[in-house]
Amino acid sequence: MHQRINEIINDGIAGLFLYEVETLLMHNDGGKTDIMNILLTGGAGYIGSHTCVVLLEQGYHVMVIDNLCNSKAESLKRVEKITGKKILFYHEDLRNPAGVDAIFRQNEVDAVIHFAGLKSVAESVDQPLNYYQNNISGTLVLCEIMQANGVKNLVFSSSATVYGNPETVPIDENAPVGAFNPYGRSKLFIEEILTDLSLADKAWNIALLRYFNPVGAHPSGLIGEDPSDLPNNLMPYVSQVAVGKLTELRVFGDDYDTPDGTGVRDYIHVMDLAEGHLSALEKLASNPGLVTYNLGTGKGYSVLEMVAAFESASGKQIPYKIMGRRPGDIPVCYANPSLAEKELGWTARRGIDEMCADAWRWQSINPNGFV
Ligand code: NAD
Ligand code: UD1
Repeated sequence: MHQRINEIINDGIAGLFLYEVETLLMHNDGGKTDIMNILLTGGAGYIGSHTCVVLLEQGYHVMVIDNLCNSKAESLKRVEKITGKKILFYHEDLRNPAGVDAIFRQNEVDAVIHFAGLKSVAESVDQPLNYYQNNISGTLVLCEIMQANGVKNLVFSSSATVYGNPETVPIDENAPVGAFNPYGRSKLFIEEILTDLSLADKAWNIALLRYFNPVGAHPSGLIGEDPSDLPNNLMPYVSQVAVGKLTELRVFGDDYDTPDGTGVRDYIHVMDLAEGHLSALEKLASNPGLVTYNLGTGKGYSVLEMVAAFESASGKQIPYKIMGRRPGDIPVCYANPSLAEKELGWTARRGIDEMCADAWRWQSINPNGFV
């Protein structure tokens, strides 16, 4: 590193020199990890923007590539407002190899967190090619360019959807996998591709993070989930009913074998999820090869329990109507998160009251999202 700094001094590039010194100091600050320069694909989106906050607050340098197909650049401006720190943002499609390669060449990148992808189950059933093209081709381009630039630390946004309809709950990482729809299959295929990559080249360190159901928002109310169309997922739908944008919630089925008949899920606060990425990056610094973790709370709540929690957090009544089951839905899904606790030292800390209070703060301050 000293030789590198000398070269830079000799070149007389003062700005770059300062950047290198700052990076060197950060590497030596506490000695926690050498992974400090993080590129987030899809970093302007819901989970990505919250992860940006956590990383910036921990002193990481953050770069974002996003084509803004399902997000707005305003989310990153808000992240800068929350943290008082800068993000290097590239408005770029991951499937453009020349553009992505240029970003790697222009920057020092130690690790990538790969959030970019399309995520609507229903849309994936209508547009399978679009989903496979975006999610799988985007990942292939990213990995090829990472490899060419010698960057081999990757955190991938997978999903509990890869467990399909679980035979037993809580679900641990060794449970059988199998997806029902093109979205889920795209996640499963990418997990397989990344597994092959790590088998072929031991220099890769890859964390497959299987998220359960992310909800909530940053406590500032400045960033949160901002669906571009009618929300598919429960919590953004409930929030929009509470704020008066939608008239009533449709509860998809009350005849499941659950305590109140409605579907049970493992809702996790998006800030807890974001912190899980920090723990995963720290894990990558120990050269673990390929690792897989559930990021969930280990607790399941029904649709009606979530509605009640949201009503008490918001002081608003949520009118609802019981409908038939939504095709493709499963009755119960919640994580066994003990592996992440044991190996990452990470657990979800925030409960459903905080999830609902933060979701409501974001929705009530920003009834039209980032617009
Ligand atoms: P999001 O849609 O808010 O964020 C994804 C981001 O990726 C968006 O900003 C979008 O513009 C960007 N993007 C998509 N395709 C791109 C491309 N080709 N090039 C560049 N940018 C592109 O979604 P999110 O909720 O933040 O989810 C992030 C990741 O986590 C996704 O991969 C998703 O499948 C996964 N995931 C999400 C959930 C959830 O419930 N939100 C659950 C499990 C897994
Ligand atoms: C859905 C996706 C899943 C994806 C996850 C996160 C389906 C079948 N599954 O999971 O692949 O990983 O989102 O993006 O789409 N509900 C209602 N009314 C609503 C919305 C939802 O009653 O308007 C119920 C559902 O039936 C379910 C629960 O709320 O019981 C949670 O639904 P949702 O938020 O869509 O998440 P998942 O179904 O777990």
